[in-house]
Amino acid sequence: MNRETHLRSRFYNVFDSAALTSFVARLSEMSEEARRGHTKFIGEGAHFQSFEFAAGGLALAVNLAKMSFVRRGDLAIARWKDALSLARNLEHVDLIPPMELLALNANTIAIVMPKGEIVSKTRGRHVESLICDTAKALSRAGLVLDDYPQVREVEGVPFIIDWSDLCFVI
Ligand SMILES: Nc1ncnc2c1ncn2[C@@H]1O[C@H](COP(=O)(O)OP(=O)(O)OP(=O)(O)O)[C@@H](O)[C@H]1O
Ligand SMILES: [Mg+2]
Repeated sequence: MNRETHLRSRFYNVFDSAALTSFVARLSEMSEEARRGHTKFIGEGAHFQSFEFAAGGLALAVNLAKMSFVRRGDLAIARWKDALSLARNLEHVDLIPPMELLALNANTIAIVMPKGEIVSKTRGRHVESLICDTAKALSRAGLVLDDYPQVREVEGVPFIIDWSDLCFVI
């Protein structure tokens, strides 16, 4: 089993949909401001707030969409979900992590994936070439990640963490 397949199988071994759904439901009851003080808060960007969820030996990142993201509207969110679903089901594409979408309601949308570490500098050039390969694979599927990819790694397996600006090429 290669390292990517191994990470995927570890992810699905620890992925507990009920536990994660209830974690996300609890987060959704808090304001965005209050969530910044949550003990498991990792960080945030313009569109998502990220929280760590410890799961049987593999730390997960639970990335919960902020209002700035869900306000894009039902149609835009539905298309983004379709794009994410297509991307995460592409096979043998480096940098696409195992990830699951939890959509509890129109305002509560989270992506769960492994929690990654900063990529070691020595692997930077290799990652740059994987970014190109991944962009090509997404493009063949009619997709584009309209943002500079943020890459993290788990045990030497690099992957893109930020999928907020994934869309169909029109
Ligand atoms: N899988 C992960 N592993 C480790 N940290 C993560 C992970 N996912 C998200 N984070 C942390 O959460 C932050 C916000 O996540 P993300 O970049 O997905 O949000 P965003 O709102 O789409 O960002 P941007 O405004 O740059 O588009 C990241 O910068 C990173 O610090
Ligand atoms: Mg983003």
